[in-house]
Amino acid sequence: MPERKQIFVTGATGFLGSHLTCKLLEQGHHVHALARSSKAGSARDRVVDTIRDVAGSEETARPLIERLEVVEGDISQPALGMTDSVARDLAAISDEVWHCAASLSFAEEDREEIFRMNVGGTEQLLRFVGQTRGRRLQHVSTAYVAGNRPDLAKETDIHVGQTFKNPYEESKCRSELMVAEAHRSGAIRASVYRPSIVVGDSKSGRTTHFHGVYAFMRGLFTALSRMRRGQPEDAVVRLPLRVKGSKEGTLNFVPIDFVVDGMVHIAASDSSIGQTYNLTNPTPTANMLWLPTICRVMHVEGIEIVEASSFEKEPMTKLEMLFQKQMSFYYQYIQGEPTFDCSNTVNALAGTGIECPRTTVALIEKMTGWYVNHLKAGKN
Ligand SMILES: NC(=O)c1ccc[n+]([C@@H]2O[C@H](COP(=O)([O-])OP(=O)(O)OC[C@H]3O[C@@H](n4cnc5c(N)ncnc54)[C@H](OP(=O)(O)O)[C@@H]3O)[C@@H](O)[C@H]2O)c1
Repeated sequence: MPERKQIFVTGATGFLGSHLTCKLLEQGHHVHALARSSKAGSARDRVVDTIRDVAGSEETARPLIERLEVVEGDISQPALGMTDSVARDLAAISDEVWHCAASLSFAEEDREEIFRMNVGGTEQLLRFVGQTRGRRLQHVSTAYVAGNRPDLAKETDIHVGQTFKNPYEESKCRSELMVAEAHRSGAIRASVYRPSIVVGDSKSGRTTHFHGVYAFMRGLFTALSRMRRGQPEDAVVRLPLRVKGSKEGTLNFVPIDFVVDGMVHIAASDSSIGQTYNLTNPTPTANMLWLPTICRVMHVEGIEIVEASSFEKEPMTKLEMLFQKQMSFYYQYIQGEPTFDCSNTVNALAGTGIECPRTTVALIEKMTGWYVNHLKAGKN
C-alpha cells in the first residue's frame, strides 16, 4: 500500500478526473476535489454522484466517499475561486495536486473560453501548487500537444514549432510550457501525463462519460433507430455515407483503466519528477479497422472512409454534412494524426503488468457493444 497522502484534485466530475479520484481513494489517500456547482446540483453532490457512477454501486462508493472532501471553486478564478482562508488551509495540508480540469472544446469560436480555462486556469493552479506543502504537481495534458508534427512526437518535446489543429491543442501546449517553466524555476515539482484518445474500460468496455467517438455512435444509433421503425431493432440498415478521411490513417485509443493505473503508478515514484509521459497506444488503430467494426456491431452497411477527392466528383449529401458535423470532434484526426513516442511510459511501467492493450477487433466490439446496450436501455 503506498504512503497515504492528502491530494488536491481538479476535474473530479469529468471522465479522467473521476476515475483518477476513485483510484486515489481506493489506495487510501484523502482527496480534496475542487468542483463547480451547477443547476444540476451542488459541487459536492455532483462529485459524489460521479464517484458513485464510476464505482458502480453505492456500496463500493461508500468507503471511498468517506475520504473525499469537496470544495467549491473555479480554476479560472483567483485562488481557484476558493476563499483565501480555504485556499490557505488546503495548501497547508496538500501533499500533491492533480490537475485534470480543462475545457475540451475544439471549436474555434470557443477559443477565448478555451484559453481562459486551459491557460488562465493552469496559471491560477500553478500559483496554488507553489503554496502547497508538497509543491508537487501531477499535470494532465494531452498527447495532441504534438499538433501537426509530421515526425515522431517525443515525450521530451513540448513546442518545437509545430502548428495546431485547433485551439484546444494550442492551449494545452501553452499550459505545458507554463508548467515546465514553473518546474524549471524551482517553484513546483511537476510531472506531465499526456493521454491520447481515452475510451472505456479495457476489461468490461464500460464507460461513464461519452465524449468523441461515443458521440458519433450516439448520433448513428439515433439515425438507425429512426430508419428501423417497425423492423427488428437489430435489422441491418443500408446507409450510404462517405466519411472524409485517410484510409491509411490511424486513431490512437487508450482505455481509461490503463491511463489511470499508469499515471498513478508512475506518479508514486520520485523518479517521475521533471518527466513527461505519453500515455499512448504503441499500436494505434487503423481507421479501416475501427470504423467498419463499429458499423458491424451496429448492424449498418454502406459507411465508408473516402479521400477528399470523392466529394469533388460527387458533392456531399445533406446526411453526409450532418455526420461531418456530428463527428467534428474527430474529423481533423481522421485525416491523420501524429506518431507518438511512449518510451518513457513503457520504461516506467516495465514489469508492473500495466500495459496498454492493443485495440483489437474484439476490444472495439466490446466497447461498442457495451455502449449500444447502454443506449438500448434508454440511457445516454
Ligand atoms: N478525454 C480524453 O480523451 C482526453 C485525452 C487526452 C487528454 N485529456 C485531458 O484530460 C483532462 C480531463 O479530461 P476529461 O476527458 O476528463 O474532460 P471532461 O470529462 O470534459 O472533464 C473536464 C473537467 O474539468 C472541469 N472544469 C472545466 N472547467 C472548469 C473550471 N473553470 N473550474 C473547475 N473545473 C472545471 C469540469 O467540471 P464541470 O463538470 O463543472 O464542467 C470537468 O470536471 C483534460 O486536461 C484533458 O485535456 C483527455
